[in-house]
Amino acid sequence: MEQYIIRGGNPLVGEVEISGAKNAALGILAAAIMSEEPVTVDNLPNVRDINVLLEAMESIGVRVDRKTPHMAVLDSANVGDICVDYEYIKKIRASYYLIGALLGKYRMAKVPLPGGCNIGARPIDLHIKGFRALGAEVDIRNGVIIARAEHLHGSHIYLDTVSVGATINIMMAAAMAEGRTIIENCAREPHVVDVANFLNSMGANIKGAGTDVIRIRGVQRLHRTEYSIIPDQIEAGTFMFAAAATRGDVMVKHVIPKHLEATSAKLLEIGCEVEEFDDAVRVVASRKLHSTNVKTLPYPGYPTDMQPQIGVTLALAKGTSIVTESIFENRFKYMDELARMGAQVRVEGNTAIISGVEKLSGCRVSAPDLRAGAALVIAGLAAEGETIIDDIIYIQRGYEDFEGKLRSLGAEICKVESEREAQKFRLKLG
Ligand code: EPZ
Repeated sequence: MEQYIIRGGNPLVGEVEISGAKNAALGILAAAIMSEEPVTVDNLPNVRDINVLLEAMESIGVRVDRKTPHMAVLDSANVGDICVDYEYIKKIRASYYLIGALLGKYRMAKVPLPGGCNIGARPIDLHIKGFRALGAEVDIRNGVIIARAEHLHGSHIYLDTVSVGATINIMMAAAMAEGRTIIENCAREPHVVDVANFLNSMGANIKGAGTDVIRIRGVQRLHRTEYSIIPDQIEAGTFMFAAAATRGDVMVKHVIPKHLEATSAKLLEIGCEVEEFDDAVRVVASRKLHSTNVKTLPYPGYPTDMQPQIGVTLALAKGTSIVTESIFENRFKYMDELARMGAQVRVEGNTAIISGVEKLSGCRVSAPDLRAGAALVIAGLAAEGETIIDDIIYIQRGYEDFEGKLRSLGAEICKVESEREAQKFRLKLG
């Protein structure tokens, strides 16, 4: 089983280039199915979730020509099957975006119900409410969602909860419904905007993405396009906090600073210097960090996907911090692992109370999920001594060459598959 082995203590210094946004790419790849003609998608992140979704698309007849690890040409002229295999949903929940795309184009979709995951139950009732409002019959039988519609018509849909997935999935189906759709209380994340822009580049008529009201006029067909994915704001924020936690100086390149405003604001609050450029942000942590309070909220609030990263950083900040997780019900699992590294943390419901300590000590920990796993890497980089991270497959879902990018910043980290390889790493470090 692959692990990361880390020798902590080095401040991260240098420049790192951010990959394309995983959560934009997942929606965009699914939406590409809706085109009558070949579609080219560039700046794809070369991560496990993207590769699995491309396999799922191939399994239903999409021709996928991976020109490079970061570019694919997708031809959906011969999609013969509208039934996605459970194997794919089990690996990535976001395969459920294929429902909105297949329903929009073929008026039919059969996709296994995604289970929960380590951070929460992850219901999809709002997705289904939206599809039904558009005129689809949606049944769940034996764990499979079967959606079909004689006529998909426009509707006025109000989302009870702000949901990225429901906003994207309903937007896709509505893009080829007959008539006008209004979706209210939408998610405003940059990746929602990116999927809307992608659909419009294929001839859709979507307005208002990025606000809480999206207006769609359905069209009959979507055509070819060439599109480049936006940078990943969560990968960028992860490196920004890695700079803060290790007291380093890192220039994060190929980003859209506007997407990072909530993250940059928190880094300034805890004592970092943050400098913005056109497509880069520099984080310098020359002074001892101090505590702050943070509550996760839908965009443009502080992102839930950045909660573990600030949590581990505050474990080393002077004073007591309060972190409130308002989006998911089980996103503090990493706190137990952090406590084993010497952090003073207490979790009460959806709130964590963190009393900063002088140092963390490296030890063997396990990645509970994607972002918590990345955060524990940050903790290992900041800790004294050696940290070993198990279950790094979670991290590989959403971070391209994470260890390589960290090494380029001076981190002493290596991906190993055996104790022998770990020994080689230790000998090399001396
Ligand atoms: C997306 O998940 C992201 N995943 C998540 O990132 C991210 O944490 C989340 O948005 C919030 O920003 C992808 O984009 C692939 P939601 P999603 O629907 O769409 C409730 C990562 O680390 N809800 O916005 O599943 C839900 O339970 C991942 O990259 C319903 O109640 O999140 C949650 O409390 C982790 N009913 C809240 O809404 C529904 O039908 C927000 O969830 C749908 C959601």
